[in-house]
Amino acid sequence: MKNDILNADVLKEKLKNIEIHYYSSIDSTNTQAKRLFNQGSKRRMLIVSDEQTAGRGRQGKSFFSPKSTGIYMSYVYHPMKDFKSAVSATTAASVAVCRAIENITPLRPEIKWVNDIYLNGKKICGILCEAITDNETKKISCVIIGIGVNIKTADFPQGIENASSLNADIKRADLIAEITKELSAVADSDFSEFIDYYKEQSMIIGKEIVFTKNGVSQNARAVEIENDGGLRVELENKEIITLRSGEISVRKRN
Ligand code: BTN
Repeated sequence: MKNDILNADVLKEKLKNIEIHYYSSIDSTNTQAKRLFNQGSKRRMLIVSDEQTAGRGRQGKSFFSPKSTGIYMSYVYHPMKDFKSAVSATTAASVAVCRAIENITPLRPEIKWVNDIYLNGKKICGILCEAITDNETKKISCVIIGIGVNIKTADFPQGIENASSLNADIKRADLIAEITKELSAVADSDFSEFIDYYKEQSMIIGKEIVFTKNGVSQNARAVEIENDGGLRVELENKEIITLRSGEISVRKRN
């Protein structure tokens, strides 16, 4: 897309009700969100960078974030209700990203539990949710939803398998604005308001998967997404359990 201009002015023009921090380069927008929160910023915030030099993924992995080819953003909010678990923010975030992509492109992305976004069988977006707990109240005072979308990233480094890009003719600022609007809508809402959409977008139901729990990998079949976002699976011994966190991968058929 020509005129894919990304800067603070363009974002502020599109998003009036949120504090915006834009960087042409930063280590990680999630890390910067924590710094800003610790410096005393207590409003809803959006942190965006044109590149990340130390982008972070889940489980201590890095997130490849080259300049001008993707969206690297962190949305910071302060939950109104008692915040139950990271799964809720995570589930809400994947709904927001999918809806935003559907709003401004003809594409139909899918969700790989918990919160990877796939297109045509390849991962195009990762989400890293982090929470800050208040020392006195012991309650979660701040949730940081970090979102990385590969828009036209090519040439992924070795070791990053099954990744691809959205490759849609869009301006990054438009998708950032759309994701932010959808995040504002779901961030404080109940699961019941978006879980049906999450289930519809899920790509793993009925599939043979591998999951890791307490360091042990097990084969299972994904049966159903439960109404609280948990994943019900059937183990090889026919036992049914519900996964509430962790990573799964879809088993390839031989
Ligand atoms: C994953 O796939 O494991 C999650 C990747 C999350 C990447 C985003 S990019 C914006 C934000 N800042 C980071 O350092 N990570 C998240």
